[in-house]
Amino acid sequence: MTERVPVRPDLEDTEPYGAPQLSVAVRLATNETPYPPPRAFSERLAARIAELELNRYPDRRATALRSALGARFGLPVNRVWAAKGSNEVLLQLFQAYGGPGRRLLLFRPGYSAHPLIARVASTGVVEMDLDESFRLGADAAREAVTACDPDVVVVASPNNPTGIAVDPDVVRALHDGGRALVVVDEAYVEFAGARASAVALLDELPRLVVCRTFSKAWRLAGLRLGYLLAHAWVIDDLRKVRLPYHLDTLTQAAGLAAIELADEVTAHVAGLCAERERLRSAMAALDGVEVFDSAANFLLFRTAVDDLFDRLLAGGVLVRDFSALPRLERCLRVTVGTPAENDSFVSALEESLT
Ligand SMILES: Cc1ncc(COP(=O)(O)O)c(C=O)c1O
Repeated sequence: MTERVPVRPDLEDTEPYGAPQLSVAVRLATNETPYPPPRAFSERLAARIAELELNRYPDRRATALRSALGARFGLPVNRVWAAKGSNEVLLQLFQAYGGPGRRLLLFRPGYSAHPLIARVASTGVVEMDLDESFRLGADAAREAVTACDPDVVVVASPNNPTGIAVDPDVVRALHDGGRALVVVDEAYVEFAGARASAVALLDELPRLVVCRTFSKAWRLAGLRLGYLLAHAWVIDDLRKVRLPYHLDTLTQAAGLAAIELADEVTAHVAGLCAERERLRSAMAALDGVEVFDSAANFLLFRTAVDDLFDRLLAGGVLVRDFSALPRLERCLRVTVGTPAENDSFVSALEESLT
């Protein structure tokens, strides 16, 4: 008797997504905001939950939530899509526009879940290396799409783990250099300043999609809510791949409450950006630490110490280890935490370097 069914051959050597979730004093590993959402949000959500008809299926079209999201950008509801985190938004995009025989272009180093989600959606992945500066220029972008001729291209801006934002000219080059759906993953854009977004290019570039999340600047990583802004035909196509009732009533209600209280929910962003710069200066002041520029809520850095991740962990600080990846040798990424957490990290770093 055969005791197990073999997994799909193309998944055999797939490592499940696994940023370590360890119980340590200072957790600066997964780019969440260190502050919980404000009390006004929790109270409004609690009151709304009491009124929800949870015996009924959710509004399949999430009309109220998508309309409220669209209103923030002056876009109608038929140009907005929402799902369980931007990871699910990306999965749905790959299901609709990738799939067997189709190619996704990515740039390395990048967000590790992008190729993983593509693989789950049976989409071929071509990864092009960024140069030593980790910056993507318009010429290199155009050459990459010409060489690869992808069906879909994804760039994160600011990029994870480098923290570098992508210029509008690069987005134009990715779009005009080929025929692909161009997806700009703006998970961290709120930390990069108002002019960093590709949203302003949406009317100029018909195949552009801008993907965003409530997990980072909106302090709601536990909620699982992401969305995209695009042209209406994209939203029509995504309805073909989404599961029935994919966005539950609770998430829709919580998203709406957050949007109503947007200023309070995102009030910490300016302070966190200032804290990022303070942390960067403190790290750069240490001998043997190279810190990269970042427009996000994390900093990539390199030292000469091979086992720095373990040393920091022993000191009670969890960061993200990239040191085994090509061209990220001895690189780690630290999420900007509270001032006290950042001070603990800098002390642990200083100790680990000696
Ligand atoms: C670039 C990028 N995109 C998307 C995500 C995932 O976001 P979500 O929590 O909305 O699925 C992350 C999370 O770390 C990320 O770094």
